[in-house]
Amino acid sequence: MLHSPSKVFTGYRVNWTLLILPSSNTQTIFNIHIFKRMKKAPNRVVARYSKALTSYGSHSAKALRWHSYASAAKRYVELVKDLDIKDHTILDVGCGFGDIIPYLLSKHSNFTYTGIDIMPEFIEVAQQRYEGFNFIKGDFWDKSFVQKFDYIICCGTLNGKEWTLSDREKMIKKLFNQAEVGIAFCMIGHFPKPKTKIKKGKIGHIDALKMLKYCLSLTSKVIFRQHYHHDDFTIVLLK
Ligand SMILES: C[S@@+](CC[C@H](N)C(=O)[O-])C[C@H]1O[C@@H](n2cnc3c(N)ncnc32)[C@H](O)[C@@H]1O
Repeated sequence: MLHSPSKVFTGYRVNWTLLILPSSNTQTIFNIHIFKRMKKAPNRVVARYSKALTSYGSHSAKALRWHSYASAAKRYVELVKDLDIKDHTILDVGCGFGDIIPYLLSKHSNFTYTGIDIMPEFIEVAQQRYEGFNFIKGDFWDKSFVQKFDYIICCGTLNGKEWTLSDREKMIKKLFNQAEVGIAFCMIGHFPKPKTKIKKGKIGHIDALKMLKYCLSLTSKVIFRQHYHHDDFTIVLLK
């Protein structure tokens, strides 16, 4: 049954002509549509951060699309709070300039850190700012790591509007599968949704309760926090 020229179908705009195709063809075309969208997303991410870096420079938190270093610091504190990092390996997905490193060092000095970021310019700054730590240039979602890491942390990397809740769930599953001990991530969102309208631009707001429920389907060892910010939450998943 066709109600309108186009229909919003689980978050993606689908041309109505697809709806009259036999269901298997519809599914195939629908998958191609999602595939194309997912393929374009990294380019959008790079374009957005390149613009921010050009506008603000590498000494500003705004290059990372944070409001300020003070607001980033609140997230770093929550993210590392529960991690017993001593003698462990850590992968920081979407590490930016690696600025979470001092917060990890404030907990313990003996750990092995690797940061990965899709923005080569961020990695170059990180290598100069935090000598002696490992950094990789690349798209995490495209990379397959042979090695597992004890902890995987991910601070704000999944905030882009192009990533739906279901994309993010897939990403979190990938992070969790790649970790030996656990993962910690934070993203923009809240439960309940803040009443005041927040200007987000390219940022996607996530229902924190839906995300928490998904995480609980992966493990019962979950820590959830959202008290520290009006529109950001942190989830730690342990094995
Ligand atoms: C909001 S910034 C946060 C940077 C850093 N985690 C911090 O808190 O200081 C998000 C970072 O994720 C990176 N990023 C986004 N998608 C990525 C991907 N697919 N693979 C690797 N890095 C990615 C961006 O380039 C950006 O540096």
